[in-house]
Amino acid sequence: MGADLERVLITEAEILVRLDELAGEIWHDYEGRDLLLVGVLKGAVMVMSDFMRALPGTAPMDWMAISSYGSGTKSSGVVRILKDLDTDITGKHVLIVEDIVDSGLTLSWIRANLESRSAASVEIMTLLRKPDAAKVTVDVRYVGFDIPNEFVVGYGLDYDEKYRNLRDVGTLAPHVYA
Ligand code: PRP
Repeated sequence: MGADLERVLITEAEILVRLDELAGEIWHDYEGRDLLLVGVLKGAVMVMSDFMRALPGTAPMDWMAISSYGSGTKSSGVVRILKDLDTDITGKHVLIVEDIVDSGLTLSWIRANLESRSAASVEIMTLLRKPDAAKVTVDVRYVGFDIPNEFVVGYGLDYDEKYRNLRDVGTLAPHVYA
């Protein structure tokens, strides 16, 4: 599977170190507050798993699954909820945990949706962000790594549902999609 990568951008070891840093920072920022971690399926599974285990204390998690309407691209910004939260988030401090912010359209929609449910606060943590791909401005409070505007896979990120289980994040070799 590693042969399908063109180059490794971020290794698993680098990811774990960064998630450790973010977990410490976030735990401090949310001290004494009712924190709820909200993951967005499926890409965020690995990030949630490693991030929440790096927290110095415990916090509950919940999940949403969404699908985008429009021209078959995730970047339409028009979103349908496939699986909603199990939790009533009224009065809770919600931290959305994501693998990547690309155009920003998905996160912008999710954030507005959660804010409309009377959460005490809604912030975003993402492992990866592509600043050059932004179509809308999303205030992302916690960012693991800013990366170039290239197609990346691994550590939860897929190409046609493959490569999510790669340990590192990398770019795909051209022969894979040629
Ligand atoms: C990815 C990622 C974000 C979204 C970001 O999910 O997890 O939710 O794309 O893209 P945007 O900033 O351009 O809106 P994807 O739709 O690939 O689904 P997946 O998590 O199931 O892989």
